[in-house]
Amino acid sequence: MKCHTATGYQIPLADERGSEIGNVTTLRDYYIAQGPETAACVGCHDRRDNLAHAYLNTSPFGEACSSCHGVGLEFGVDKVHAR
Ligand code: HEC
Ligand code: HEC
Repeated sequence: MKCHTATGYQIPLADERGSEIGNVTTLRDYYIAQGPETAACVGCHDRRDNLAHAYLNTSPFGEACSSCHGVGLEFGVDKVHAR
């Protein structure tokens, strides 16, 4: 697994690196296990409403995060973090 790549802070993760990235178990957090994209965000965005937002946007077969926070989108990580 490559942790630090030039665009490694972007989502979706799965398209680029596939099944190498699994769920993350963070004991004592609001819920476990967290999907890999969620885990990447809630290290900083750690309020309860942030976790609830991530939980509600996670399906049994994957996370929806990049539908709204993907590269180039209005709420994309590259855009919102560059304000
Ligand atoms: C290293 C800490 C850090 C990580 C990791 C991080 N963020 Fe942020 N994020 C911030 C900070 C600080 C701000 C507010 C300052 C700014 O605009 O740069 C912010 C702002 C945002 C905003 C704009 C709304 C707001 O609260 O200001 C969104 C949306 C956002 N981040 C989404 C994400 C997503 C999605 C991820 C995971 C893919 C993520 N962030 C990962 C630190 C982080
Ligand atoms: C349907 C669209 C949509 C989906 C899907 C979505 N988000 Fe968001 N998210 C938003 C919007 C809109 C905001 C508010 C952006 C702002 O304030 O600029 C937000 C805000 C955030 C923030 C910043 C919250 C804060 O207040 O600091 C994080 C972190 C975040 N989302 C993570 C995720 C994660 C992780 C997933 C997937 C599990 C996800 N989002 C899925 C639309 C979405």
